[in-house]
Amino acid sequence: MHGGDIYSDDCPRGRKLTDFSANSNPYGPPEGVEAVLREALGHARRYPDTAYRDLKKHILDYHGLSGTPVILGNGASEIINSAFRGLKKVVLLGPAYSEYEKSALDQGVAISWVMMKEAAGEGYSSFSFPLEEALTALKGAEGILVAHPNNPDGNVLGPEAMEALVDFARTQGKRLVVDETFFDYAGDQVTSFTEYSSQEMDLVVIRAITKFYGLPGVRFGYGLVSDPATCETMRAPQLPWNINSFAETFAKICLADRDYQRRMAGLNAAERARFGEALRTLPMIRRVYHSEGNYLLVELRDWQGIRLKEKLLALGYLIRSCHDYRGLGPGHVRLAVKRPEDNRGLVEALKTLV
Ligand SMILES: Cc1ncc(COP(=O)(O)O)c(C=O)c1O
Repeated sequence: MHGGDIYSDDCPRGRKLTDFSANSNPYGPPEGVEAVLREALGHARRYPDTAYRDLKKHILDYHGLSGTPVILGNGASEIINSAFRGLKKVVLLGPAYSEYEKSALDQGVAISWVMMKEAAGEGYSSFSFPLEEALTALKGAEGILVAHPNNPDGNVLGPEAMEALVDFARTQGKRLVVDETFFDYAGDQVTSFTEYSSQEMDLVVIRAITKFYGLPGVRFGYGLVSDPATCETMRAPQLPWNINSFAETFAKICLADRDYQRRMAGLNAAERARFGEALRTLPMIRRVYHSEGNYLLVELRDWQGIRLKEKLLALGYLIRSCHDYRGLGPGHVRLAVKRPEDNRGLVEALKTLV
């Protein structure tokens, strides 16, 4: 099950619905993206470069890298789907985005589960990365996938855990896959795993323009794949010209717009703090989890997430119940951080439900 399923039958038709279940940027894509459609139409009249040299150069320049192999895909999803290729067993952490498990199972890759550690207090709580358990499990597997920030809670790894994980993967020859689909939202103090992309190791860092640039319909993601042999294995089943010229043009515009990137990260951080504080004052909410993403995981006090979802649908709000995430309970829900007026509206709606 995914957020953003506004097409299902239980969503009311012909009435305004504010979608807090999907985590795409509520401010929409950078200016200029629409004007550029005309330019992209020009490009669409010929085949793209099969090697996508210019697009890959844009990506590497954006990350301050050169020479790191890049794989391009139909959203982060396609890269996630190829990241375990060639492996027999991987370590996954819970709770996490369900596609990691699906991708492993689809390819017959066995899973060793490690659960995040919850530091749960009243008010703000957080999940933390269980380094020792993860490394122990990784000894018996060939790879591990970490989401940074993690979905649904927004947790990131601290510098020591990152260093230890990278060091272990490099020295033990393990594949380290990092889903950084939501990384652009993280604060300046959080380090990206792309810092390690030029090292000699089996590291795959996954990014996309889907969430941060508010373009889930464009379907563009990429992986920075430090090991050329892994990149070849991941690319092998891809069809030629798998990225259309519109996605290529959109991706270049997004990655070049530093001003948009700064503004959006700032807006989200400020609103995440305000929204989190407002939620924390509601008696129905037991705790709000610390997040570096554009969403907040919340645990309800006496409510089940499914029932709250139904009640809120009737009031014009769609939320994500997290009962189906491994390691979470029926009272967990995830709320996207949206524009201030929408967040205030949801808080007011929650106040009417007792
Ligand atoms: C953590 C995470 N990674 C990847 C994806 C998929 O991203 P894309 O739409 O770019 O395929 C999602 C979608 O919800 C997600 O939550």
